[in-house]
Amino acid sequence: MATHPPAEQVDAVILVGGQGTRLRPLTLSAPKPMLPTAGVPFLEHLLSRIRAAGMTHVVLGTSYKAQTFAEYFGDGSSFGLDIDYVVEEVPLGTGGAIRNVADRLRADTAMIFNGDILSGLDLTALLTTHRTVGADVTLHLVQVDDARAFGCVPTDPAGRVTAFLEKSEQPPTNQINAGCYVFERSVIEQIPAGRVVSVERETFPGLLAAGAVVAGHVDSSYWLDLGTPSAFVTGSADLVRGIAPTMALPGPVGESLVLDGADVHPGAAISGGTTIGRDTTVGEGAVVERSVVFDGARIGPGARVTSSVIGAGAHVAASAVVANAVIGDRVVVGENCELVGGIRVWPGVELPAGSVRFSADS
Ligand code: GDD
Ligand code: MG
Repeated sequence: MATHPPAEQVDAVILVGGQGTRLRPLTLSAPKPMLPTAGVPFLEHLLSRIRAAGMTHVVLGTSYKAQTFAEYFGDGSSFGLDIDYVVEEVPLGTGGAIRNVADRLRADTAMIFNGDILSGLDLTALLTTHRTVGADVTLHLVQVDDARAFGCVPTDPAGRVTAFLEKSEQPPTNQINAGCYVFERSVIEQIPAGRVVSVERETFPGLLAAGAVVAGHVDSSYWLDLGTPSAFVTGSADLVRGIAPTMALPGPVGESLVLDGADVHPGAAISGGTTIGRDTTVGEGAVVERSVVFDGARIGPGARVTSSVIGAGAHVAASAVVANAVIGDRVVVGENCELVGGIRVWPGVELPAGSVRFSADS
């Protein structure tokens, strides 16, 4: 009987080169995986789960704001990891990014991650499915209510993937690509080098057409793509509240995470999994629910912030109401302003006292 190498001998590859367009203006200053989420860069939560599964060699496929990753994670040793960086001067797409790291792989098998997914998947179980089937590639699959924004991935009764339809208007099932794969290195080496390749639109359909063994691993634990502001707020709150698994939370699980140097008035109410960043102030009577407040921000007395992101150094003045909004770095939201629903305020903008903005997306 064949013996299978344990997870320690599998390389982890994380795709972090995207521009995070849907999270602007937050992603103007930091790439999506580096955004502070429940107190640490989002990527740190994923790395903690990779480490807990036993993988130690991690390759980051970077492009947009590539240097920010190495500045924070260094060689990975303080995280118990050995991190390699590969930079695409011009983004190569998801498949091109995977091909581009091939010469850094040390094992015959690699686990590939989209860098913006929060999940409770048992990584070892994914590897076991891959090895039991003897697959060329194994995909983590989940069920969602609406598959149109994802890669739709039907499987046959034996769990073999039968098609891959990226962002289809009429998806045949609600089963989607969850953005985590096991690849045999030999398959990665067959992806064309030096040009843009979409793993979703080109590699997976090509493998299926060629008769490769592509297995599906369906899982129903926690799963969220943090690509939009509302998902980002939800994911951060779920990490703080212990609903989404992580080994990297910088404090106890609870209704709020208040980081060092935050000055929160005892008469303020912080709830719903809110994170209050370092060196912030929150005034008397302020209510902050289910939100992410970045370092150095100020929330004035009596202000009400719900399901929003407040950028670094931003100021929400007294009695302002901010709901479902993204407030960029250093923005000033004047006293008694009302910003409700899907509003995004670009860095540095100053909204005069009493401004009212509503959005149809609310
Ligand atoms: N290195 C590199 N180079 N990384 C990239 C590039 C690139 O050119 N383009 C995208 N990425 C990274 C992003 O940073 C992100 O971590 C990941 O690849 C996926 O890109 P997204 O832009 O977030 O894709 P998506 O959410 O629309 O769709 C993908 O994820 C869905 C699950 O959330 C697809 O894989 C879908 O099939 C899948 O259902
Ligand atoms: Mg995504």
